[in-house]
Amino acid sequence: MVINLRSDTQTLPTEEMLEAMRRAPLGDDVFGEDPTVNRLEEMAAARMGKESALFVASGTMGNLCALMSHTHPGDEVILEAESHTYYYEVGGFSALAGLSPRFVQGNHGIMNVDMIKKVIRPENIHFPSATLLCIENTHNRGGGTIYPPSLMDEIGQFAHKEGWKVHIDGARIFNAAVASGVKVKELVKSADSVMFCLSKGLSAPVGSVLAGDQNFIKRARKVRKMLGGGMRQAGVIAAAGIVALDTMVDRLAEDHSNARYIAEELIKIDGLEIDLNTVQTNMIYVDISALNITADRLELLLKEQGLLVSPVSPYQIRLVTNRHINSNEAHQAVIIIKEIVEKVR
Ligand SMILES: Cc1ncc(COP(=O)(O)O)c(C=O)c1O
Repeated sequence: MVINLRSDTQTLPTEEMLEAMRRAPLGDDVFGEDPTVNRLEEMAAARMGKESALFVASGTMGNLCALMSHTHPGDEVILEAESHTYYYEVGGFSALAGLSPRFVQGNHGIMNVDMIKKVIRPENIHFPSATLLCIENTHNRGGGTIYPPSLMDEIGQFAHKEGWKVHIDGARIFNAAVASGVKVKELVKSADSVMFCLSKGLSAPVGSVLAGDQNFIKRARKVRKMLGGGMRQAGVIAAAGIVALDTMVDRLAEDHSNARYIAEELIKIDGLEIDLNTVQTNMIYVDISALNITADRLELLLKEQGLLVSPVSPYQIRLVTNRHINSNEAHQAVIIIKEIVEKVR
């Protein structure tokens, strides 16, 4: 048996999803005629409390569509320094959207208004004009950290006063909502757009959704087409997304409690460092600098024992709980890590 804690993106579709995919009524979505995609988009807009929504191939595509629809080439986009959009999206914000980045150093990825104020520059002929602020909730490199709902509002209101649009990279916004005990639409109400992923903890095989007002989504639909994301009978995958929204949100709490359990057990092991404050959802970042091996080597040793983890820097590994991990497997993962660390220490 393999215990896979590499990422929640590795979750497989449920039987109900596969059945829904087989039975989904289909049409050409570029013509707006796929009833299943239309239904998913309506559901998603309602969940996000936004006027409209757009089904996209991936979180990366959703974020890029948002950036390109909110801004013009040459504008400045304000991003958290460790944000996924900056770190892991192949520089699309600059290569394709033509944006100039301005970074805010957050606390484990979480920004506040004072931090944002520090990077603002006054209007000046030399500076690009900032038009967009991006917020990542949960914050991946921050450790799966969440923004308190009131902070989301505070930042959103501040950004609007500055004349910026606000986009939320909410790849795991449902994790944030479940962990904070509030409805998603409450969390995103002060943003102009939000992207969320169906293909992570929600277990759908493919797809993300971008939501916002009608005009914004109209522009984003055209950008998506330009990026090659007009997907024809996309209902075949959207069907799984509908099941994901209907059935997979509440259970994220289980992933959070398994992550917490693993983190609390791992910090008891000499040589492993975890900032427990950051273990707020389904991720655990483990610092292994005190061991005599690299993260790549540890990954290999754990793999030999049937445990898959991700090295994320030379001396750091990441574990992500997901629906394929129950409390027994969480327990088993701890035992495997403990044995290996005791061997190499
Ligand atoms: C915070 C965040 N945003 C965006 C994405 C991009 O999603 P995708 O892999 O579907 O492009 C990810 C993927 O892990 C993510 O963690």
